[in-house]
Amino acid sequence: MRKVYDFLVIGSGAAGLSFALKVAAKGRVALISKTTLDVTNTSFAQGGIAAVTYQPDNYEKHIRDTHIAGAFICDPKVVEQVITKAPAQIEQLLSWGTSFDKRADGNFDLHREGGHSEFRILHHLDNTGFEIQRALISQIKNHPNIDVYEKHFAIDIITQHHLGRANEPWMNDIRCYGAYVMDEQTNEVITFLSKFTMMATGGIGNVYQVTTNPVISTGDGIAMVFRAKGVIQNMEFVQFHPTSLYNPGETPSFLITEAMRGYGAVLRTQRGEEFMKKYDERGSLAPRDIVARAIDSEMKVTGDDFVYLDVTHKEAELTRQHFPMIYNKCLSLGIDITKDMIPVVPAAHYLCGGIKVDLNGRTSIRNLYAAGECSCTGLHGANRLASNSLLEALVYADVAATDSVAQLDGTEICNDIPQWNDEGTTHNEEMILVTQANKEVETIMSNYVGIVRSNLRLKRASDRLEIIYRETEELYQKSRVSKKLCELRNKINVGFLIIKMAQKRKESRGLHYTLDYPETNSSLDTYKL
Ligand code: FAD
Ligand code: SIN
Repeated sequence: MRKVYDFLVIGSGAAGLSFALKVAAKGRVALISKTTLDVTNTSFAQGGIAAVTYQPDNYEKHIRDTHIAGAFICDPKVVEQVITKAPAQIEQLLSWGTSFDKRADGNFDLHREGGHSEFRILHHLDNTGFEIQRALISQIKNHPNIDVYEKHFAIDIITQHHLGRANEPWMNDIRCYGAYVMDEQTNEVITFLSKFTMMATGGIGNVYQVTTNPVISTGDGIAMVFRAKGVIQNMEFVQFHPTSLYNPGETPSFLITEAMRGYGAVLRTQRGEEFMKKYDERGSLAPRDIVARAIDSEMKVTGDDFVYLDVTHKEAELTRQHFPMIYNKCLSLGIDITKDMIPVVPAAHYLCGGIKVDLNGRTSIRNLYAAGECSCTGLHGANRLASNSLLEALVYADVAATDSVAQLDGTEICNDIPQWNDEGTTHNEEMILVTQANKEVETIMSNYVGIVRSNLRLKRASDRLEIIYRETEELYQKSRVSKKLCELRNKINVGFLIIKMAQKRKESRGLHYTLDYPETNSSLDTYKL
């Protein structure tokens, strides 16, 4: 089956939904989501969205904080673009029906998080992402120009490669014509043809054993673009959130928002010692890379499985008011956060790298855009400043919408795309192989490519992953396509990219810390304060 649209949007988080809403005034849109519209990292966001709203805050401070957190390799033009466009995106969210908490005087109630020099995080209680997702979905469902395809899994983007023109010199001008997408209810692979495709597939957390990300985050978009020979960058910068709730067996790990440290919570060892000042003068509110590494180090030294986050010294009623979701979640496990300390561990949380895009959200593949967590704009450098990612997703969906709409009239659909070919494949009976390989990938990545790395660990990870890669490709070639197998393949591709880029970086910087090159090579800085 074939379906033809002006715009194909893969992903229903903040990036995909807001792009779809913006281009739908000018063309027909297919919006694809591999589960239901609401299962996204966006829905899970707690802390909020960073934007300069009131004095004494200003753009210069937010820009400076972003560069410091990013360990001085953020792209200055991108940082400026995102931060100065933030207020317009907040206005847009409000006009779509998103609600942010306000104080009695009518001003926004701003939170503060690690690495921010001012209170600038707009939020909705402690479930901001859920509120944004809710408002965007209600707009999408009412839009006559948007067709929603839930439980549709994008397998690969379509390029000249699928036209069988292997010997033609197209490699320097790869074009995207749409994507092969599997309808999970019928198992049919549909050929979606589009003038423009937006990759908005989110993060990669499930490449690791412990993650705050929901199950959808398997790096599909990055792997698809990598296989199509698009440019991917900065994959070594995987952000581990310092404080996920220690509750073995729970997947994904429940996040304890950084806003709680902004509110005054402090990290302690199991013996009650406040340890962060040993590592950084900003204490518990140092940027995430520093806090996650400090916790990792304390856990290694003491042999403990977790540290504590302590908010018991704050006024109980205020804590319940600000963090109702966290309060109730912990209480359901017998932890009353107004009286008991919260056991926490770091968890894979966010990927700073991904599909390289320019200032308009264009990838290296013509007619293919990327936005949100699967993209690498250059905003985050070596470490993302808290609550800058929802903002980045919205800004880049916006610039990509403007850029693609401007080219709509001059762009044609390619009609000679072949249907998906699964000749010679059989039903995949061997799910155990997929399940086991998944576990192995997650273990390899967590043990060897986690918060602290070394040449030896990376080499070991690469050798082990190579074996699983070969076995999985063999299985893929002979099996009828399935979501589980595709996700495994994608996770292996992503793991491989993280390892290779980590091996190339001969220094420690931001989220990439290696025992073999513990110093930062400041000659590589792209920004000076
Ligand atoms: P997502 O929201 O993850 O959406 C991805 C979409 O892609 C989903 O619809 C999925 O179904 C779809 N998809 C993926 N693969 C396929 C495929 N093969 N075929 C079809 N569809 C596919 N950031 C902040 O700025 N502030 C915060 O407070 C904050 N808190 C967070 C808390 C948690 C627990 C987590 C996990 C993240 C948090 N983040 C926060 C990060 C932020 O939520 C994400 O970076 C952002 O929401 C990503 O949005 P996105 O649109 O790129 O992707
Ligand atoms: C949090 O609320 O701590 C997460 C914020 C983020 O990931 O930006």
